[in-house]
Amino acid sequence: MVSKPIQEALNKQVQMEAESSQAYLAMASWAEIQPGLEGVSNFFFQQSDEERVHMLKLLRFINERGGFAVVPELQQPMLTFPSLKKLFEEFLKHELKVSDSINDLVHLSLTEKDYATHNFLQWYVNEQIEEERTARTLNDKLELIGDDKSGLYLFDRDIMNFRGPGKK
Ligand code: FEO
Repeated sequence: MVSKPIQEALNKQVQMEAESSQAYLAMASWAEIQPGLEGVSNFFFQQSDEERVHMLKLLRFINERGGFAVVPELQQPMLTFPSLKKLFEEFLKHELKVSDSINDLVHLSLTEKDYATHNFLQWYVNEQIEEERTARTLNDKLELIGDDKSGLYLFDRDIMNFRGPGKK
């Protein structure tokens, strides 16, 4: 059975994952209407789907542990981006925020002596290592490329290969 503080914190995480899914969907949509960013757009459509899976996993866990998972109200995400670089900076910033939130949850699970939740959260801890690595790699690459058009062409073409192991 989940305690009240754990249930509340897990529900907050449900909201964060749902908002991540929306944020990446908005990035995918913006990229889709820019010339030559099909790869980036596909990357974020896929990223958005993954965040929905993260959200669902949490939602089902809360209910399985005798709590009540609340489907959250969502804020509208950032819809347009001044540049590709800015978009990827937002991506990294967002993932770092998610990591902080997961870390707080892990801490809470220990202070509440909720070892089932602690165990469940390890999957998210590992996932965040991957997500942060992917976001950092992509930002580093864009930094290197700068305004080089052929570099950007290759970046868009190869973006799916920059994802961490285990991701398609
Ligand atoms: Fe589910 Fe990318 O955080």
